[in-house]
Amino acid sequence: MTHQSHDVGLAYLDYNATAPTRPEALAATLSAMRTVGNASSTHRSGRDASSRVDLARRQIADLLNCSHGEIVFTSGATEANNLALRAAFATGGKIVTGRAEHPAVLETAKALTAENSGSLILLPVDEDGLVDMEAFHAALATNEVAIVSLMAANNETGVLTDLAPIVEAAHELGALVHTDATQIVGRLPIDLAETDVDLLSLSAHKFGGPQGVGALFVRRGISLPYRPLLFGGGQERGWRAGTLNVAGIAGAGAAAEAARKALPAEAAHIAQLRDVLEASLVEQAGDCRINGALSQRLPGVTSITFHGAPADAVLAAMPDVAASEGSACSSGAPSPSHVLLAMGRSREEADSTVRFSLGYATTSHDIDRAVVSAVRAVRQVRTALAVPL
Ligand SMILES: Cc1ncc(COP(=O)(O)O)c(C=O)c1O
Repeated sequence: MTHQSHDVGLAYLDYNATAPTRPEALAATLSAMRTVGNASSTHRSGRDASSRVDLARRQIADLLNCSHGEIVFTSGATEANNLALRAAFATGGKIVTGRAEHPAVLETAKALTAENSGSLILLPVDEDGLVDMEAFHAALATNEVAIVSLMAANNETGVLTDLAPIVEAAHELGALVHTDATQIVGRLPIDLAETDVDLLSLSAHKFGGPQGVGALFVRRGISLPYRPLLFGGGQERGWRAGTLNVAGIAGAGAAAEAARKALPAEAAHIAQLRDVLEASLVEQAGDCRINGALSQRLPGVTSITFHGAPADAVLAAMPDVAASEGSACSSGAPSPSHVLLAMGRSREEADSTVRFSLGYATTSHDIDRAVVSAVRAVRQVRTALAVPL
């Protein structure tokens, strides 16, 4: 099977925004859409729909090494993050999170604590994108923390968070731990039998499933009052009312299984391509900086600041490459990347940063094209902006 066809004249390097649909996901989604059945109905059609959902639940659980009963299907990671933080905050206490988190966590945390800003602690990150552990321990020492929410991998830089010491310290003081694992799931192994987080969010379209489907992992046995965002028929054990999106969920499950099987080979191949891309750009474009280069990172991401070349102009000058300025969620907005500012970059540096993100279907041809186009674009923009002596 080949992957979903996309524009052959385009090097698609924006997997952190969304990945092409895996063929297995497309097949499972189409197959479910060709049948009729509400997963809550008890007749044969309903049972067929619910068996597709059950299969997908097991496929997602297998990817994470958890139990299928710990998976709650949602519309994406945004909803999963909202659900996790709302429920944990309702236990009473503070929310501790990081300044480089995705807006789906940051804005949720701010909204929940709007009436008492003292109940939100935002941890700084260092210039390599790592959470300030001294600030983390100081926050925990207040002994009033309900939940610590730190992302497993940053969407802009790919920088990974070492969750083990965070979980250990938080649990010692009775705080719950949530991780927004949207960018790591399907790209690097996640083993929930080893990583003892209580809650984890994911989004299917980042690993080749359909958009609009995600999940919240809720560890069995944790004491959490559920706080649904949607009230209604009580689906998903009350966490998420509404008729299940059977076709989307089936596609998410199939993508999870395909990603799990291919993961080690894909991760190695993607890392190799990313390293070629980075080395070529550094050498040929010159005067640039790889953000988070000294940290452990996802295999497929590179965030590059091309000094003296605003990213919007660079992107416009390379129409045959799909990359992004900062993160996709904030591109189009005039504000600079909050992640890069949190890492101590100037506004000018943040505005001159391009994120290339690779994935399972990226080829060396895509990389060759991206290098040629990006180097030409950066030179062109720098020349146009150069102040004559
Ligand atoms: C780290 C992270 N969290 C959450 C989200 C939100 O995912 P979705 O839009 O699928 O809900 C994204 C999407 O870019 C992300 O990168």
